Amino acid sequence: MRLLVTGGAGFIGTNFVLRTAATRPDWQLTVLDALTYAGNRENLASVAGRVDFVHGSVADADVVDRLVASCDAVVHFAAESHNDNSLDDPWPFLESNVIGTYRLLEAVRRHAKRLHHISTDEVYGDLELDDPARFTEDTPLNPSSPYSASKASADLLVRAWVRSFGVNATLSNCSNNYGPYQHVEKFIPRQITNILTGVKPKLYGQGRNVRDWIHVDDHNDAVLAILERGRSGETYLIGADGELDNRAIVALLLELMGKAGDWFELVSDRPGHDLRYAIDSSKLRAETGWTPRYQDIRAGLTQTISWYRDHEDWWAGAKARTEQTYRRLGR
Ligand code: NAD
Ligand code: DAU
Repeated sequence: MRLLVTGGAGFIGTNFVLRTAATRPDWQLTVLDALTYAGNRENLASVAGRVDFVHGSVADADVVDRLVASCDAVVHFAAESHNDNSLDDPWPFLESNVIGTYRLLEAVRRHAKRLHHISTDEVYGDLELDDPARFTEDTPLNPSSPYSASKASADLLVRAWVRSFGVNATLSNCSNNYGPYQHVEKFIPRQITNILTGVKPKLYGQGRNVRDWIHVDDHNDAVLAILERGRSGETYLIGADGELDNRAIVALLLELMGKAGDWFELVSDRPGHDLRYAIDSSKLRAETGWTPRYQDIRAGLTQTISWYRDHEDWWAGAKARTEQTYRRLGR
């Protein structure tokens, strides 16, 4: 297998590349990454001899065509990924997430290669807090933010290229990931690094929004299962039954890090803030046999806290820049 991984220097892509290099010793791996503020080539230093790294954008038709021509399959993680940034400046989300996916689709179509497109549960919009429903593969797309609208657009392009041009592609829509190498702009690493630096965790609004948490290794195992056993043209929802509201996550972090349970502050809410996400992953489990391994969130968070404690050099610079942006946004 010659696998092209886009966005392989970001949070989920890094964990995917490290895991795949370790578990699939005969696969050839190439990473295409634009090294935006969210990408870090050093993440892949331990596998530098195993992985070809190409610095470039998925929106660049020439580089994409060249790399797709010489691989067997593509796993497409590359994207602008943060909702708050998309509310501040939507254009990079259109360029990377929509145009970038279009460039890849045209290349896999031209060269008859397999594509696995990584997407998000946010394309389905949100659920009420007291609604027993969960998202399934049949839930209509109803995105709320420029980020989720750009991901829904990309999903629709993939589905259209499958139907109209017979492109060999699968899609997956996953819930909120946590684990090592996640940028400190995101909720869990922001609060861990706040606590480590003596700053109170910050909850948007009343902190009652619910996310369906999954460890990044469980997400990536599911991606490998779909790549190896998924049916072409199909969408698979990935989730680990990890629904918790944001207050509950902060309470766990405070307890695990030895702070009082009321040591947090409420800050101004995100405009259009989705209330709740929840995934029904029965189809993925039935068709591929995948099950999550990290079902104990306390254990997963304990591991994640240790990683951030041990890697201050990795996050300190990004933390200062990120908090400057949050101060400007009033959050
Ligand atoms: P991230 O922001 O940590 O990493 C994104 C990576 O993509 C970075 O390395 C960045 O440099 C690269 N990139 C951005 N634009 C690019 C471009 N034009 N060309 C090439 N590389 C580019 O994001 P993440 O959290 O690792 O998310 C990866 C994928 O998973 C995204 O498609 C995201 O929508 C999806 N996803 C994320 C989550 C989550 O909880 N983080 C959940 C479900 C789905
Ligand atoms: O559901 C999948 C999505 O999960 C992915 O598609 C996105 O790429 C990923 O960023 C994530 O989106 P969210 O917007 O849910 O994640 P974020 O970490 O930004 O926020 C999680 C929740 O925490 C959300 O309800 C907003 C809230 N929040 C966030 C921050 C940064 C806070 O209360 N305080 C904070 O400081």
